[in-house]
Amino acid sequence: MVVVLLAANEERGAALRAFARGADGAAVRRGLTAERFHGREGQVVTVTIAGARRRLLCVVGLGDAAALDVDAWRRAAGRARQAAERHGAARVAIAVDERASSIEHIVALAEGFDLAGYRFDKYKSDAEHGVLVGELTLLTPTPLPAADVARRLGGVATAVTAVGTVRDLVNEPAAVKTPTFIAATAERLAADAGVEVEIWDRARIERERLAGLLAVARGSNEEPRFIRMRWRGPGARRRVALVGKGITFDSGGLSLKPAKAMETMKTDMAGGAAVIATMVAAGRMQLAIDVDGFVPATENLPGGKAQKPGDVIRFRNGKSVEVLNTDAEGRLILADALALAAADKPDLIIDLATLTGACIVALGPQVAGIYGNEQAVVDRLVTLGRETGEPLWQLPLVPEYRDDIKSPVADLKNIGGGNAGSITAALFLQEFVAGRPWVHMDIAGPAFTDKELPYAPKGGTGFGVRILLRYLAELAATPPDVPPRAAASHARPRRKPPLAAKRR
Ligand code: BES
Ligand code: MN
Ligand code: ZN
Repeated sequence: MVVVLLAANEERGAALRAFARGADGAAVRRGLTAERFHGREGQVVTVTIAGARRRLLCVVGLGDAAALDVDAWRRAAGRARQAAERHGAARVAIAVDERASSIEHIVALAEGFDLAGYRFDKYKSDAEHGVLVGELTLLTPTPLPAADVARRLGGVATAVTAVGTVRDLVNEPAAVKTPTFIAATAERLAADAGVEVEIWDRARIERERLAGLLAVARGSNEEPRFIRMRWRGPGARRRVALVGKGITFDSGGLSLKPAKAMETMKTDMAGGAAVIATMVAAGRMQLAIDVDGFVPATENLPGGKAQKPGDVIRFRNGKSVEVLNTDAEGRLILADALALAAADKPDLIIDLATLTGACIVALGPQVAGIYGNEQAVVDRLVTLGRETGEPLWQLPLVPEYRDDIKSPVADLKNIGGGNAGSITAALFLQEFVAGRPWVHMDIAGPAFTDKELPYAPKGGTGFGVRILLRYLAELAATPPDVPPRAAASHARPRRKPPLAAKRR
């Protein structure tokens, strides 16, 4: 299948003529007219053209030429992949014009194409094992430096694999992906990436006084796990902590969710999965940065020993919290992890969590909320998100709303006053970062999609992984005192005693 990408109203231009002349050209024009193809974003027309063999010409709309960003090409390549799968085309060639001939664009096209190939069909009895798309050729107007292209495509493959890991874990039923399963998966994946993993069982979690994780785990028969991962990059000059929410199923606990709201709650470990996959990819890419991963994992169920509204728990940083709603469990397990992460004094903490329905109300299903106490870092991540097609929108840490999470009986309560639920959740988390540079992404919306997207089928999306990998790679390549910076990293403290990192 040959793919031609056209922006709005380019259907009469010269681009098509190179691939369909004479009678073929007429057939393509008829096809485009019949489908009213005008290059709008999302329009896809596939025409069979004559010749020695049956060949397909697929025309994909890019939308308004003036608004073409890198992700528009990534999305178009994803749509081309979807069309190829529909038509059983095993080999695909995308004709790339001057507008998309930089390495950045080539990489985005390959990435969109690869990401769109994801399937989760292990539980389908009639999964099609027919022709699978096996090859992509990019026809560029000018040659590109082969070594650079090869290196960047290697990065694409690693990132796409990481996204696939997250999608697999999110899509897996909660009955399978227990906290123990997630921990074992982290160990297995990290082993050949040179990333060190430490799994804390309940006894260790008790000794470490992870009060939030223990409180949430009370209602479940599944053992909780706390997953610690360490990547020590060669020549690293910075250290970043990644924290991810790992609720493998969120029933709400005793503050039970309605049935409808529970349907997708196996997704509630998407932040944790993103952290695990990013750590593994950082190791595979040998990124010159130190990264520490923290993933608290448990179910949130209403068993006989479940925590009850009104219970008070005390965290390792000394703060007490009145649990008024057991469905606001994410912030409880993240509080432990953030406090632990902050104690190591990293240059930056980034957490990802499917934290609040309120964030979906505010930003809809495709945009994540981002918060932080370092504006330069937030700005940089927002920009990267635009480039990777993982949109982030900054929401404010309104200091006045801190009053909403004050409790009459404890230092804090785990819910706000009813409004601005994503903000009060973020303010709660901020209480546990000990003033360290910190960014929080509320990915409740985009972690999961209930409709097919240009390069993600229904289900887990892997949101956040590509932003994180880009950002880590960028930090690794930037001297500590040059922006974008992870503040306060000029005088990097001496390395602590070796962390026994297994490296290959
Ligand atoms: N996991 C949910 C948030 C969520 C909702 C993620 C929808 C994805 C889709 C979280 O644990 C939760 O239940 N939050 C509550 C907080 C409330 C009780 C303060 C919410 O958003 O309703
Ligand atoms: Mn919940
Ligand atoms: Zn939750």
